[in-house]
Amino acid sequence: MINIAVLVSGGGTNLQALIDAQGTTLQHGRIALVIASNENAYALQRAQNANIDHCVVSRKYFQDQEEFTNALLKQLQEHNIDMIVLAGYLSVIDEKIIHAYPDRIINIHPSLIPSFCGKGYYGLKVHQAALAYGVKVTGATIHYVNEIMDGGKIILQKAVEILPDDTPEILQQRVMKEAEWILLPKATEMIAKQIEQEKTK
Ligand code: GRF
Repeated sequence: MINIAVLVSGGGTNLQALIDAQGTTLQHGRIALVIASNENAYALQRAQNANIDHCVVSRKYFQDQEEFTNALLKQLQEHNIDMIVLAGYLSVIDEKIIHAYPDRIINIHPSLIPSFCGKGYYGLKVHQAALAYGVKVTGATIHYVNEIMDGGKIILQKAVEILPDDTPEILQQRVMKEAEWILLPKATEMIAKQIEQEKTK
């Protein structure tokens, strides 16, 4: 089994989906570490409840991006992390980390990329934009993380219908329930399995 770090910033429902998938959908990896970008993230409580090592590495603790990146890398290395899952993580991942984990970092985005993604599209803003545009179908995407925001190779996508009375909040919930919480454990398992196979080659 490989060691997975999950990076979070908020409520952590996607982290919870991964925790719940351990031993069922998720067979080739274990969540060894949860890193939050701020101390108020409820995801930290979820990690604690599941007895998973967790810490806060916040950009505001550090003078510059480099110090912040080095602190993140230190945590990842100390926990022998093989794979990183960004699950609602709002800080920017530096090139140095991307290079240290080539094809080993995945992200979940709550739309069908390439729609409603890139700079400024996070949280409810993604769903607001989908409703404002008037699309009838949205969804979620799991993709590799590279230097381009939301630009890495797509791993899995799932479509979700938009209904006439949707608000951004209602749509966000439906996308999570019908797509995100299902896709993220599935994609994490796929990539964990690949990494484990590469390690034993
Ligand atoms: C999710 O919609 C995810 O796709 C996005 O941020 C949200 C995080 O929600 N990147 P949670 O913290 O997992 O509940």
